[in-house]
Amino acid sequence: MIVSGEVRPPGDKSISHRALLLAALAAGTSELTGLLAGADVQSSARVLRQLGARISTVRPGVRVRVTGRGLKLRRPTATLHCGNSGTTARLGLGALAGQRFAARVTGDASLRSRPMRRVTEPLERMGARFEDAERGTLPLVIRGGALRPLDYASPVASAQLKSAVLLAGLVGGVPVTIREPYRSRDHTERLFAHLGLGIHERDGAIEFVPSDRAAVPPSFALVVPADISSAAFLVAAAVMAEGGELVVVHVGVNPTRTGFLAVLARMGAPVDRVNLHDEGGEPVADLIARPATLRGTVVTPAEVPLLIDEVPILAVLASRALGETVFQEVGELRVKESNRLELVAANLRAVGVKAEARGNDLFVQGTDRPPQGRVETARDHRLAMAFAVLATIPGAAVKLSERASVGISYPAFFRDLQRIGRGGRARHRD
Ligand code: S3P
Repeated sequence: MIVSGEVRPPGDKSISHRALLLAALAAGTSELTGLLAGADVQSSARVLRQLGARISTVRPGVRVRVTGRGLKLRRPTATLHCGNSGTTARLGLGALAGQRFAARVTGDASLRSRPMRRVTEPLERMGARFEDAERGTLPLVIRGGALRPLDYASPVASAQLKSAVLLAGLVGGVPVTIREPYRSRDHTERLFAHLGLGIHERDGAIEFVPSDRAAVPPSFALVVPADISSAAFLVAAAVMAEGGELVVVHVGVNPTRTGFLAVLARMGAPVDRVNLHDEGGEPVADLIARPATLRGTVVTPAEVPLLIDEVPILAVLASRALGETVFQEVGELRVKESNRLELVAANLRAVGVKAEARGNDLFVQGTDRPPQGRVETARDHRLAMAFAVLATIPGAAVKLSERASVGISYPAFFRDLQRIGRGGRARHRD
């Protein structure tokens, strides 16, 4: 396949959730442009509406207006259903921790199997109370209230956990300090800084200190860049193509998210970044990707949080590289939208690649044999997209168990993939 043209993937999922949440907590009306309109962000919008924020329809290409509650959310009259979205649930629990009411939070079957104790534990230390927290999964009832300051060393590098604690500090008007074993994505910190909320880094720890006991975030305008985690699938298609050059425009290149590009360069596929500029405190650039001959590499534990959602597509790229690729300490993949560690390995084997999960490491042996077989996506959007890209290489006969899950983060994925395969333009859709 020749992959060429210009494409703008949908808005960054992590930034979209945070923008909606902070706008819902702000005083006044915020305007958000370029928000992802995928199912996960719709879950955040739905839950925040139940909590009293006024949010206009989230649709591709439209500016979304959010009228916030000035930190005081409204008691919901029904269960808050977070769908498939871990970010909605975990960041939402942080914002609920400082509210003077009880709320019941749940999600779909996948989300109900994912660990919540990592969030309920620090929030309990701050003074929030939970029913059924010892089970460690949703559904949960959270009873918010007056919060205490927290100094917390997190056992996992998780931006969702870090953000939940920071949001609890904001809503509760109390200082929090959080340390993580490795640096995770810092969009919450950047948005706090952009809004003038007292955040800084000291000796590797993130500290939030409220300016006074009820410092309410101001309303704001924000342009959300395209999601590098969605761009990664298109970049990978261009790298594995037989020819062409692909430009992926307006992509967020926050250094806590660009591990994929660093590993790709090490594998022999440097991606150029042009038109670098800042938007709302986030670096943004256009990416230029071309076909390359790949070689295996070792992805180290410190790199993992910087590319955590890109492991499925990197593993697919590794299956076409010369030699072996090792992903070290990727145990967190077991608790994503599916057990990605086992499913990436099993699905690669299903299409004829040598791959295995050993302990918390993932090993992939490259081959030049065309991939052939059936892939079980387990309705995980990133597995569906990663193996759809593998299906574009010559001689491939890869069948996916389903395709609809791409609607979680990239509803127009198959249309865009087809367009760039024909060298067309695919801009501003979702
Ligand atoms: C996210 C953080 C990551 C990532 C997820 C989105 C976020 O999860 O996998 O897709 O927006 O904070 P963890 O914080 O659990 O690592």
